[in-house]
Amino acid sequence: MIKISPSLLASNFSILSKEIKDIEDSGADMLHIDVMDGVFVTNISFGFPIIDSIRSLTDMVFDTHLMITKPERYIERFIDAGSDIVTFHIEATDKVEDCLDMIRNRGKRAGLSIKPGTPAEVVYPYLEKCDMILVMTVEPGYGGQALIPETLDKVRAIRAYISERGYDIDIQVDGGIKPENAKAAIEAGANILVAGSSVFKAQDRRAAVDALR
Ligand code: DX5
Ligand code: ZN
Repeated sequence: MIKISPSLLASNFSILSKEIKDIEDSGADMLHIDVMDGVFVTNISFGFPIIDSIRSLTDMVFDTHLMITKPERYIERFIDAGSDIVTFHIEATDKVEDCLDMIRNRGKRAGLSIKPGTPAEVVYPYLEKCDMILVMTVEPGYGGQALIPETLDKVRAIRAYISERGYDIDIQVDGGIKPENAKAAIEAGANILVAGSSVFKAQDRRAAVDALR
């Protein structure tokens, strides 16, 4: 089953609760929450106060994508805020195993992400402790960019590696995903599609989610 995770970053923050209800009604499977610290990426989005306050608005799965340096400092806090999946970047920490353990010890799903320039193989030693691998299909930091086609080769490589070894791990793609390239991402082996602009900017969000699926 292909799952769709619309990225809140593309929403209209002045009517956030309406946007979240709308996404709930669109039939999306989860809500992608992009946290940026201005250090790991050259942009700042939002942090705990927003997640704390939107948690009471919906029962949707909160799929939190941490683009922050040394995520080990804040993982607990993002779980307290109500994250169900916590994904961090392998490039952002030298405590990868500790971070994965922190997430799983709290009963949450652990995601490990790689930027476009990071080779697929770096995640292999950690798969035992991962529930999801997020292959960034654009440079993290901004919504509305075009998918980098070569990143799908890494999706293919990781999917093959995971299947050969019998792991049950989701592969998420994030950045520039739209109906025109969703099929290629799925064929490469992705089963969770993050979509910001292509869902939030659509007139009919339910149709946009359906088109991706
Ligand atoms: C980029 C974020 C993405 C982004 C996706 O750093 O991680 O989740 O919001 O937005 P689109 O789908 O517009 O590329
Ligand atoms: Zn993201």
